Amino acid sequence: MTRHIVARTSDIPLGGNKVFGVEGRDIVIFHVNGEFFALLNRCPHEGAPLAKAACVARLTSPEPGVYQRSRVGELLRCPWHGWEFDMRNGQSWFDPQRVKVRSYPVAVESGQVLAEGLEKGPYVAETFPVHVEDNYVIVET
Ligand code: FES
Repeated sequence: MTRHIVARTSDIPLGGNKVFGVEGRDIVIFHVNGEFFALLNRCPHEGAPLAKAACVARLTSPEPGVYQRSRVGELLRCPWHGWEFDMRNGQSWFDPQRVKVRSYPVAVESGQVLAEGLEKGPYVAETFPVHVEDNYVIVET
């Protein structure tokens, strides 16, 4: 897998999303409840952009007249025809084994750790200490 540093964590607002072009694909990254999720920005039904999807909760009913919300904001409802998908793994709600959106692993790492992991060549120039304090979102394709 190839790792792509796509954004600072602060570039994607909590409850929002942002689309990035990665290796010719549009990948949408959602920021929900402090976590980041990456999906192909294309509904498997007829291709709607999932960046425009509503982020909804799971609603269950243990008995008539009683409703419980969970996983608030982690389910996507496609803007065109309402198919629903799990943001964590791309599975559809109605047929999770056969219909899914492509999902990608996401990591958050500090800029300092990323800078330390850069490969260094055989020649060494005079250097000065630099500190990178932001965190970055990394998607693996
Ligand atoms: S395009 Fe997404 S449900 Fe139809």
